Amino acid sequence: LITPVILCGGSGTRLWPASRKCMPKQFIPLTGPLSMFQDTVKRVSDPACFAAPIVVTSDEFRFVVAEQLREIDTQAEIVLEPSPRDSGPAVAVAAVLAGGRHKRGLVLILPSDHLIPDAAAFTAACVEAAKGAQDGFIMTLGVAPTGPATGYGYIRPSRATGSGGALAVEAFVEKPDLATAKTYVEQGYLWNSGNFLFRADVMLDELSQFAPDMRRAAEAAVAQATRDLDFLRLDGEAFAAAPKKSIDYAVLEHTRKAAVLPVSFRWSDLGEWDAVLANSERDANGNSLSGNVHVRDANNSLVHSEGMLTAVLGLDDVVVVTTQDAVLVTSRAASPQVKDLVESLKASG
Ligand code: GDD
Ligand code: MG
Repeated sequence: LITPVILCGGSGTRLWPASRKCMPKQFIPLTGPLSMFQDTVKRVSDPACFAAPIVVTSDEFRFVVAEQLREIDTQAEIVLEPSPRDSGPAVAVAAVLAGGRHKRGLVLILPSDHLIPDAAAFTAACVEAAKGAQDGFIMTLGVAPTGPATGYGYIRPSRATGSGGALAVEAFVEKPDLATAKTYVEQGYLWNSGNFLFRADVMLDELSQFAPDMRRAAEAAVAQATRDLDFLRLDGEAFAAAPKKSIDYAVLEHTRKAAVLPVSFRWSDLGEWDAVLANSERDANGNSLSGNVHVRDANNSLVHSEGMLTAVLGLDDVVVVTTQDAVLVTSRAASPQVKDLVESLKASG
């Protein structure tokens, strides 16, 4: 069985104002009745393939996580980080915990904020990738790029490894600049989907080699962790000593054990409102409407309200999002820049 580890400590500012520091995008229902976190948990619920999940999250999200798991009737080990240290330390902790149960146990890391509608295709890919992981590879799942996005990791695949459908990874480059990304797309690189599989002992070895202080901090934080109700609370001081680095920069860019399974299921990291619109159910005019909204003469727009009546008239290709205390109106095209908007809002107090 594969142990799924769901990472949900991120903040998702490009989906402001629905996604907030206190309630990031993975916990809000965006494209259907469940949150992306809940969809992620359900995606790995086939007991023939997956063990009970481990959820690694920040202390402040513990009750949201527990409540959302209860809603979908799922038991999980909830591991609490006393402070956010990016995905590297979270993955290191997962490897330590899984390795403590079975030295060579298989671990599947899942971001909690991605849309993958075809759970069966995802499971089939994991089962295929598990063969490579069993053979000692860190198996990434690679998606064919649709453009030179700069927010992703790029994987250059090469020859077959002989483990299932896995290809060797010639290079892994996290978040290249636009010019580089363009050449990568032309050269047939794949996007790193952020979902990856490995044997616990393999990841621990690679951490020892490329991020030994991260491994040490994770081991100490687990060794000194305390039980608090259903939560496993990592030791604050020990965990704070972990370098703040994503697993992509800490290990994936350096390891020679990476391999990639090209996948063809539909995948989106719902990075901005335009992507949410593209992946939502839409009416005959191409609009995605949710909550207390009313539209007329509008096309290909996303209108979302968490309460206040929100009406849109005579506009195309717009995003209008109303929450308790903020309203966003933007063109679809500008929606990736909401992240910068939020930065400038913070800067101006
Ligand atoms: N527990 C925990 N603690 N989880 C975290 C933390 C943390 O401190 N920081 C981030 N995460 C979680 C996020 O919630 C998300 O599910 C996942 O780790 C990835 O972090 P992101 O911050 O969303 O990374 P990214 O989108 O910039 O880049 C990653 O994902 C891309 C695909 O969406 C990389 O893996 C890229 O290579 C990849 O292409
Ligand atoms: Mg992300």
